[in-house]
Amino acid sequence: MQNPHTPPDYRYNLSAHIDTAYPQKPRFFIKTYGCQMNERDSEKMAALLLVMGFEAADSQETADLILYNTCCVRENAEDKIFGHLGRLKHLKADKPALIIAVGGCMSQQSEMAQTLREKHRYVNLIFGTANRHRLPEFLWRVMCGGERVADITEGEELPEITDIPVTTREFSHKAGVNIMYGCDNFCSYCIVPYVRGREKSRPQADILHEAAALANDGVKEIMLLGQNVNSYAYDFPRLLREVNKIDGLERIRFMTSHPKDFSDELVAAMRDLKKVCKSVHLPLQSGSTRILADMNRKYTKEQYIALARKLTAIPDFALTTDIIVGYPSETEADFLDTLDVVRQVRFAGAFTFIYSKRSGTPAAQREDSVPRKVANERFDRLTAELYPIFTEKNLAKVGGVVDVMVDEAASPLVTSVECLGGSHNVTNSSEVGVVKYKGRTDDHTLVHFEAHEGLKAGDIVPVRVTEGKTFYVSGVGLD
Ligand code: 5AD
Ligand code: SF4
Repeated sequence: MQNPHTPPDYRYNLSAHIDTAYPQKPRFFIKTYGCQMNERDSEKMAALLLVMGFEAADSQETADLILYNTCCVRENAEDKIFGHLGRLKHLKADKPALIIAVGGCMSQQSEMAQTLREKHRYVNLIFGTANRHRLPEFLWRVMCGGERVADITEGEELPEITDIPVTTREFSHKAGVNIMYGCDNFCSYCIVPYVRGREKSRPQADILHEAAALANDGVKEIMLLGQNVNSYAYDFPRLLREVNKIDGLERIRFMTSHPKDFSDELVAAMRDLKKVCKSVHLPLQSGSTRILADMNRKYTKEQYIALARKLTAIPDFALTTDIIVGYPSETEADFLDTLDVVRQVRFAGAFTFIYSKRSGTPAAQREDSVPRKVANERFDRLTAELYPIFTEKNLAKVGGVVDVMVDEAASPLVTSVECLGGSHNVTNSSEVGVVKYKGRTDDHTLVHFEAHEGLKAGDIVPVRVTEGKTFYVSGVGLD
């Protein structure tokens, strides 16, 4: 007997249903919240939907299926999602056939799935992270059986979707490749291990196959993805060396790293491998050894600084980080340790967060929470320390030439203006045919620049830097 959960059956069942029941292809719209993992999951779900006969909609308003791929890492992510979901209720009132699906990390939490099921009756499908490969089955039940499905079953193997090409990339020139799923670290504040499950590494051969197929399809930059890529089970530095050999790829990045697992061998691989970008996102979380121990991070302030020094000794290297303020019991002295690391390491960029209590995590049991006012004030002091460093680093690039990979061409500087005598073109640049672009350097600095028309996403061009701001530099293309 066939396993009733085998995805292909439902894919073909649903596509047969779509062929007969819909005169025009039904359209889907996926909204993704959260990290690169979710973005890649959404690309894969979009690929599944295309195989089943859907087509992509330009907006929520024109979609027959709206799928929210959700995040729950902090409470404000969930608040935002509920705010957006509330608006869908009105869309559904105007269009009763609209299918609303909520999947991902937020709905993977059983209380959330229950809230969605009981209080958001207009949602047709609730699923999680562990069963997202069953999307075809769930949709088939909703669309053909008229069922309302809420299923966050865990504990299954998560099969990779390998038999269909994931052609639904957000960018033509860059793509994420999962190298592992889940997280075993259980940092005390973090919900991820509970919604993404235990660590599971993909075999190296599968990853190389996927990366080579992407390169063949024109991808120039690969981001190797995992909650903690440094604990990849089959030798992460060796994986980097193998990906480095793939023809057509120009840049290799990875995220996220955990300081406790960042080996000297990996530092050496980063230094020596040409295509591996000289930038690392290395979450610090706190500069206080006491808080780090409480967070279950398994490194000290001094160990973090020593690792940061090894990395920043690599020429043209940039280190970025994540920092949490207001973790339960954080004192002024603990916070000053965080500021001290910021001053010593001089990060090129940082995501800063106020601690958010996530139910089910060990830190949520704590009663010694930091008052909101104090956490807000520390947050402001932290950014006041970080931002001038970012600016200084960007100002230091002025006058130099950097190689920039084009991410997108913004609108041409030539704009069309309607006036009484018809339309005419106005240019706000001295040179017609000059276009504004956005791109990134090897060390991940965001670059806004002007260059001649015709550059494509994925092209790498030399740019002279003319201005340095806090979050980007500006420049002029030299080609
Ligand atoms: N509160 C605040 N920030 C958090 N992060 C993870 N969990 C929490 C939480 N409960 C931050 C960490 C992590 C980043 C992705 O989100 O800094 O590195
Ligand atoms: Fe969360 Fe820690 Fe795992 Fe990162 S390493 S996902 S912060 S538990």
